[in-house]
Amino acid sequence: MSIEEIAAFAKRKGFVFPSGEIYGSLSGFWDYGPLGTELKRNIERELWDFFVRSREDIVGIDGSIVTHPSVWKASGHLDSFTDPLVRCKKCGKRYRADKLIEDELGLRVDGISPGKMERMIRNRSLKCPECSGDLGSVRAFNLMFSTEVGPTGTRAYLRPETAQLIFTNFELVQRVSRKKLPFGIAQLGKAFRNEISPRNFLMRSREFTQFEIEFFVHPEKMDECPCFGEVESLPVWVFSRRHQKGGEPERMTVGEAVDSGVFGSRWHAYWLGKFCEFFTRLGLDPDKLRLRQHLEEELSHYAEDTWDIEYRFPFGWREIHGCANRTDFDLKRHSEVSGKELAYFDQESGKRIVPYVIEPSQGVDRLFLAILFEAYAREKERTVLRLKPFLAPYVLAVFPLVKRDGLPEKAREIFSELSVCFPCFYDESGSIGRRYRRMDEIGTPFCVTVDGETLENGTVTLRDRDSMEQKRVRIGDLKKILSELIRGKSFSALP
Ligand code: ATP
Ligand code: GLY
Repeated sequence: MSIEEIAAFAKRKGFVFPSGEIYGSLSGFWDYGPLGTELKRNIERELWDFFVRSREDIVGIDGSIVTHPSVWKASGHLDSFTDPLVRCKKCGKRYRADKLIEDELGLRVDGISPGKMERMIRNRSLKCPECSGDLGSVRAFNLMFSTEVGPTGTRAYLRPETAQLIFTNFELVQRVSRKKLPFGIAQLGKAFRNEISPRNFLMRSREFTQFEIEFFVHPEKMDECPCFGEVESLPVWVFSRRHQKGGEPERMTVGEAVDSGVFGSRWHAYWLGKFCEFFTRLGLDPDKLRLRQHLEEELSHYAEDTWDIEYRFPFGWREIHGCANRTDFDLKRHSEVSGKELAYFDQESGKRIVPYVIEPSQGVDRLFLAILFEAYAREKERTVLRLKPFLAPYVLAVFPLVKRDGLPEKAREIFSELSVCFPCFYDESGSIGRRYRRMDEIGTPFCVTVDGETLENGTVTLRDRDSMEQKRVRIGDLKKILSELIRGKSFSALP
């Protein structure tokens, strides 16, 4: 299954469309259609419930997208948030120089300066892949979108990460929520990057959704993680710098990895483990996940250590999550630039301290894509999307077997009753087999069919997407049965 095929499927079924396609669309922007909107919202709801609502140590904020320029001066993004840009002198096409060198010459160039990349291009006679023309000089291109605010045209920026307003609001949020270290602040929302070459469908777009947690820890207590037991025995594939030299990741538990010194701290290990647990809950195969440590030269300007969680897409391993130790870099920088001290009063020592930060950063669109790839299966006689029931755009479809004899009325009655509790779909057009196939293809886990027997004894056929098994159940039991199935009960265990 290629990325082009999944993009075509997503468009055909109404998950994701190129943005504004009637005008030729705009590269790097996507619109979520009716089914995609439901799936994306379900993913976002799961993120928020799992990492914010169900925890005592995390609260959320919803900051603005257009942000004061000083925020980005202080954070270092104005100076350092760049990618190397190179342009073909003949056809004018622009490329991200590091990706071009990686793709065309098979070399990794993380951390190498634009000047050095330019020399590599020249020495190895790398030409434009489109027209074989000569490539020009390599320059640093800032990825932030700017805009003008109000009639005076004050310059401001669209946030390239959701993280920064968490730092600028640190003291306010800490005070109003009365949280004690260690605690986190989360945010879910749009981020914007003017990527030089957006590609691979939702993998690299110019507008995307991030879910980030800035988790604040006393700098001397990075190993004091009271909830570490939640992930200690979780097996993960570890691809540290040492493993990358040897070429092979190693499977170990998060606890073993910490004991062998793979991770810089327990808190860093905890958050990586917690996201792996979450991904598995959402249906990703744990053997298609690995934790890859950034090489020194890959590290962002603010990071002391970063690990990506990569997912094995059919086209290779790609980052879907980044988790950095940002130290006290951001709080200190905002204190310096704003002149307002951002710190935490530590009652134990009676001193004001600047906490360290572990930052899990989740791209929602990349997760959406991984979930689509994982769920999509083409079988002999059908295409099926094996989404977890709680993620599916519709949990239930209700069909009358035929369009007469009072069956549509009864089916609509059931639809009205159940659609208050679950997202439901009503369909009476086409053969029953066709209707099942249509639901399989968009991931609807259960279908209810109303037939002649329903009118006689109040039972319906309940059909399972994955096994295609059918059972006869009472209408009055449907709510309870569906709730259990959504929570993970197996269909074959139903009476
Ligand atoms: P890559 O190395 O693939 O360019 P990145 O290192 O720039 O990614 P981060 O800066 O670590 O990504 O961003 C954190 C997360 O935000 C990523 O793991 C990803 O899920 C998401 N993300 C970042 N850039 C994009 C983008 N252009 N389109 C979609 N998602 C993105
Ligand atoms: N906040 C980290 C990132 O977006 O890269």
